[in-house]
Amino acid sequence: MAPSASDSTAHPVSDRSLTMGHLALHYATPDDGPLASRLLQVMGLIETQMLPLPNGNFYRFVANPGHFARGDGIVYLSCLPEPQARLIAAIHSALHIGTDREHDAVKGWRTMMAQDFEASFHFGFLVPALEQLEALVQALTRLEATDPAFAGRLTIGMNRARRGDAAIDARLDASPVFGQATRYAYGSAGVQVFVETDLVRAGQLGDAMVFEFDYVFPGHDSHILSVVEI
Ligand SMILES: [Fe+2]
Repeated sequence: MAPSASDSTAHPVSDRSLTMGHLALHYATPDDGPLASRLLQVMGLIETQMLPLPNGNFYRFVANPGHFARGDGIVYLSCLPEPQARLIAAIHSALHIGTDREHDAVKGWRTMMAQDFEASFHFGFLVPALEQLEALVQALTRLEATDPAFAGRLTIGMNRARRGDAAIDARLDASPVFGQATRYAYGSAGVQVFVETDLVRAGQLGDAMVFEFDYVFPGHDSHILSVVEI
């Protein structure tokens, strides 16, 4: 028998009020902790706690001040636990990652990722103003270019909104950041920025993390985060 709308086994959270709670991330070594924390703060996260631990600091961040004392909108950051680091090392060894004998599956996965940053595990944040997103890209680009601690550890990509809205197209053409973008999002009225970094270790190979930062132009019911277009 099909469950009724009031069936508590079909929808135990009956008022449909879940929120996104927290994301637990890891960095590779204790030395990377402060750098990973700094990166997340440049990305806009607010550090609310730093707990020094012998095997690497533990950090808590929130997405905005409204989440400071709440249970959602949180990012935790800590050092990779030793068994997980060993597992990642074993995967890399078994698949010959980083050698000229890389497993074909790894090559195929890398090819996929080179074409689409969000084809595999990633986490996205919504940025409230396009100018802030442009400033974020410029800040991260500057950080990678000028701070030796971040050199070679940040890769930035972006998708601009699909063409078709004259005002949006003109704004993005004139953008110091998106004016040079050659890729387009799977939808309209929004832009996406991707930051891949090995300062955070996650994903299928446990060697990097992809963060996404989006902006959605106001006044559009259909946009990159509401409707996926092929
Ligand atoms: Fe995404």
